Amino acid sequence: MASYPYQIKNFEEYQQAYNQSVVDPEGFWGNVAEHFLWRKKWDKVLEWNFKDPDIKWFQGGKMNITENCLDRHLATLGNTPAIIWEPNDPEERHRILTYRELYNKVCQFANVLKNNGVKKGDRICIYMGMIPELAIAVLACARIGAIHSVVFGGFSAQSIADRIQDAQCNLVITCDGAFRGNKDIPLKSVIDDALMACPSVKKVIVCTRTRTPISMLKGRDVWWEDEIKQVETMGNPPCSAEEMDAEDMLFILYTSGSTGKPKGVVHTCGGFMVYTNYTFVNTFQYKPGEVFFCTADIGWITGHSYILYGPLSAGATTLLFEGVPTWPDAGRLWDITDKFRVTTLYTAPTAIRSLMGFGLGPVNHKDLSSLKKLGSVGEPINEEAWHWFKDHIGKGKCPIADTWWQTETGGHMITPIAGITPEKPGYATLPLPGVQPILVDENGKEIQGNGVNGNLCIKFPWPGMLRTTYGDHERCRKTYFATYENLYFTGDGCMRDEDGYYRITGRVDDVLNVSGHRIGTAEVENAINMHAGVVESAVVGYPHDIKGQGIYAYVICDTNPSKDAELTKKDIIQTVSRIIGPIAKPDKIQFVSGLPKTRSGKIMRRILRKIAENELDNLGDTSTLLDPAVVDEIKRGRL
Ligand code: WT7
Repeated sequence: MASYPYQIKNFEEYQQAYNQSVVDPEGFWGNVAEHFLWRKKWDKVLEWNFKDPDIKWFQGGKMNITENCLDRHLATLGNTPAIIWEPNDPEERHRILTYRELYNKVCQFANVLKNNGVKKGDRICIYMGMIPELAIAVLACARIGAIHSVVFGGFSAQSIADRIQDAQCNLVITCDGAFRGNKDIPLKSVIDDALMACPSVKKVIVCTRTRTPISMLKGRDVWWEDEIKQVETMGNPPCSAEEMDAEDMLFILYTSGSTGKPKGVVHTCGGFMVYTNYTFVNTFQYKPGEVFFCTADIGWITGHSYILYGPLSAGATTLLFEGVPTWPDAGRLWDITDKFRVTTLYTAPTAIRSLMGFGLGPVNHKDLSSLKKLGSVGEPINEEAWHWFKDHIGKGKCPIADTWWQTETGGHMITPIAGITPEKPGYATLPLPGVQPILVDENGKEIQGNGVNGNLCIKFPWPGMLRTTYGDHERCRKTYFATYENLYFTGDGCMRDEDGYYRITGRVDDVLNVSGHRIGTAEVENAINMHAGVVESAVVGYPHDIKGQGIYAYVICDTNPSKDAELTKKDIIQTVSRIIGPIAKPDKIQFVSGLPKTRSGKIMRRILRKIAENELDNLGDTSTLLDPAVVDEIKRGRL
């Protein structure tokens, strides 16, 4: 049975752990890291500076994360479910993979990768639906030291191509298609389009899921199942794990920022392993035998950290759900909870709000008595959704961990520890041990005391933090470490209330959070501008009841689109969908004749945001604008 000596058991232990982590961070993390499987122990726990930045955890340590997620559990947990897979269609049979079975399948597919020429350090793009083979593919890469770059199934061919080119991937793993709700997503056909612009890709491995007819390119495309058969005819040889340096790259995951181009956030083996495990075990207070259900997609960091690596390294049972919360009906998550006696449900405010909209019908008469703990992630949770989750799903007896973190942080940073530290609706509350948040003003001066607001920074490294942005370290420095000297800047605004609890107030940069997905306004603008009739555009967020933020686009066309305005809007939306993916589709498009610009040509987004938010009386100073009259026009045309 797995045990977690570093699991915090009460508030006093939290305070002790927190204090130690600040006074002696190396001692603190060194003690946690002792409980993992290392081929060779590290020479030094931490070496760092935020100037370059240069951050090394567990330097000199040799390990492989899959030995920690699989091999080390075999003796005690071999027959314990590692992954429970629930398909999209409730009529289809679920699958359970024990730790032994998952180990065998990962080794088998790792051998497939080797047979296809994959070597340590190669970048592999994974574009699949939420099926066990996705987990197997990810772990197989990690097993042989290949760097995975998972791309969410909702991204378009263009977005995939950008990501493949940036990382120079040489192999793609995909499926014929994916089932999501009532939709079939033609993954392989999207990959075929993407690969026209990706000469670095020599091989595509296609796993069968939907049996959608697809074309297979001779010499490039092979079937997952055929490749597995080959390994079977070789007698299923074992696949020893590649020995990795703690600071070797584990994966790249692309995320949006305030420029037009997504950046490849890089996480490394040792620190990511220790941090996802530590935060999983502590935040959710995982106990052996519990069933952990995170509803995120593995295409996002939440899935990497809390469907795969965190739970599996802890020997937990993790539930992988292929579908969506509202199909075939809005009771789907509750049925799954009942079916597998889920103990912890970790989901997103947008999902909660959308399910709230269906009323209590789909919840009533569902047996949710197995639930002990709840979690929320992705965006600030409004109090109404928090209480609904607490009362109607947790039946008043489950703590809620509102976990604030980011793709870049690798794991939870500020969150209640379920049932151990206090919770407060709408608040991420207190930092986990090892996390040192500070609030600063625009000049980077620390704001001390309580009852204050500022920009959220972190002043000391933690093992799960990003190390670089792939292929462009300078960009990493500029984005995260240059705004404020010697601090990691999160891009979030934050308040610290009278009790010292943190409440995230949202992004302070030009990044939107739509249904918990991060979307850069510049990216959406670039996509809109691809439309032949568009001259210029400006995109801002506005409050949206379900998505949290909606996308509001102000668009200048070369001819007045008034006659076929609706048609042009549809066209623009389709363009964005093709360039980025359906997640970035604007909710509102307003045609304008000009945009509010300063004399130096900078768009005054503050004004556009205020108009989109319908705060028309309070636009601030518009006297510095080149053409103040345009503001009145935009106000009149507000949607
Ligand atoms: C941004 C990170 C972390 C995995 C999912 C999103 C916002 C995330 C919370 C929360 C308030 C939150 C922040 C953050 N965010 N969790 N519990 N409360 N805001 O990862 O795409 O990297 O986005 O999501 O604005 O910066 P991501």
